[in-house]
Amino acid sequence: MRAAIVGTGLIGRGWAAAFARAGWDVRLWDREPGAAETARLAVGLSLADMAEAGLMAGAEEAAARVVVAGSLEAALAGADYVQESVPEHPDTKRAVFELIDAAAPEGVPIGSSSSTIAGSLFLSDIPGRARCIVAHPANPPHLMPVVELVPSPWHEEAFVARACTLLESIGQVPVVVRREIEGFVMNRLQTAVVNEAIALVAGGVIEPADLDKVMKHSLGLRWAFMGPFETMDLNAPNGFQDYAARYGRYYQAMGRSLGVAEPWPSEALERIEESRREETPREAVTERMRKLYKSGVIEHYTVRFNREMLGLKLLAFVQVWLEHAGASKAKEYLISLPQVLECHHIAGDYDLLLKVLVKDTSDLEELLSNRIKGSLAVTRTSTTIVMSTYKEDINIRSK
Ligand SMILES: NC(=O)c1ccc[n+]([C@@H]2O[C@H](COP(=O)([O-])OP(=O)(O)OC[C@H]3O[C@@H](n4cnc5c(N)ncnc54)[C@H](O)[C@@H]3O)[C@@H](O)[C@H]2O)c1
Repeated sequence: MRAAIVGTGLIGRGWAAAFARAGWDVRLWDREPGAAETARLAVGLSLADMAEAGLMAGAEEAAARVVVAGSLEAALAGADYVQESVPEHPDTKRAVFELIDAAAPEGVPIGSSSSTIAGSLFLSDIPGRARCIVAHPANPPHLMPVVELVPSPWHEEAFVARACTLLESIGQVPVVVRREIEGFVMNRLQTAVVNEAIALVAGGVIEPADLDKVMKHSLGLRWAFMGPFETMDLNAPNGFQDYAARYGRYYQAMGRSLGVAEPWPSEALERIEESRREETPREAVTERMRKLYKSGVIEHYTVRFNREMLGLKLLAFVQVWLEHAGASKAKEYLISLPQVLECHHIAGDYDLLLKVLVKDTSDLEELLSNRIKGSLAVTRTSTTIVMSTYKEDINIRSK
C-alpha cells in the first residue's frame, strides 16, 4: 500500500511516520524546494525515536519506505490514499485539491488535514469531491491517533466507512463528526477547557502553574484512558442516567458561570507567559519536548493511583510486544481471559495494548508471564497501573 503526503510540514511528517510505521510506502511532495527532503529526514528520526521508546519495530525499514517524489504527479502515481497537509487557508487547499483530484488514481480517497475549515468551503467545486474529505488529525498524528473525519453534505456513508477502515488499518482512531461545525469536536472540547482555564487565572482563582497541575494530576490522568461519558457511567451506582440525575444540576449551575465565551485578557496572558518561562526558559522548550518524548512521558501512561486509598481493583494498561508477528492470534486468546477488558492492535502485527483488571500485582504478573500462549512469546511489556473506579458488576458489564 502506498500513501501520498502533500505538504510535508509538521503534520505531513506525522502522517508520513504513521503510514510508514504501519508498513506502507510513502511518497512525499512539498511545493518548497528541499522541504520534502527535510521532512524525510525528520520522519526517519521520529521512527527511530518511536523504536527506541518501544513503540514500533523495524524503524530503519520503515524509514526506507519514505521517499521524496520529484513532482506532485509522481507522488500520486500508484497511491492508495492521499493526505493533504498544506497551510490552513481555503484558497490554498482548494488549489491543491484541484491538482490532486486531477492526478490521483481513480477512486482513491483524499484526506485533508484541515483543522478549522469545513470541507464545504474548499471542496464543493472539486470534480471528485465525493472522494475528498476532511480527515483532521491531532498533533502529532503518529503519536495522537485520533482522526476526525468530517463528511460534507455530499458524502455517502459507504465512502466515510471506507475511509474509517483505511485509517484504522494503520492504527489511527477515526471518529465521524456528523455535521460540519466550527472547530470540529476535539478543538471545541479543548476550547472549552482552555477558555475556562484562562478565565480562572484572569479571575484570580488560581495561579497558572497550579492550573496545569490540576489538569495533569486529575482530569488528564482520567481522560488519558476514559472519556467523560464512560467516567459518568461508572461514577454512579446505576450508570450514566443515574449520574445525570444526581449531579446534572451542579453541572448546569457551574456551566452558567463558566468563562468559556470570555475574551483572553492580556494581563492574564502575560502572567501565564511569565509563569511558563519561570518553569521552562524559552530556549529549553524544544529540548523539553525531546526529554518528555525520550522519557516516555508522552507515549506511555505513567500514572499511579493509590489503590489502598481507593480500595478497588487495579486497572492496568499493558503494552505487549510479541516476539513474532501474530497479534491477531494473541488478541483472540487474550480477550477470552476474564481479566482482559480490551485488547487493541497498536500497529503492525507485533504490538498489543491491553486494558486489564486484576486483583493485585501478582495477578498482573501472572497474566504477563513471559509467554502468552504457545508460540506467542512476549519480548517486552510496559505496564502502567492506572486506577480503578471499577467494581465487580461494572467490570462484567464493560466487558
Ligand atoms: N500544527 C498543528 O497543530 C495542526 C494540527 C492538526 C491539523 N493541522 C492542519 O494541518 C495542515 C498543515 O499544518 P502544518 O502545521 O503542518 O503546517 P506547516 O506550515 O508546518 O506545513 C505546511 C507545508 O505545506 C507546504 N505547502 C504550502 N503550499 C503548498 C502547495 N501548494 N503544495 C504542496 N505543499 C505546499 C509548505 O511548504 C509546508 O511545508 C493545516 O491545515 C493545519 O491546520 C495542524
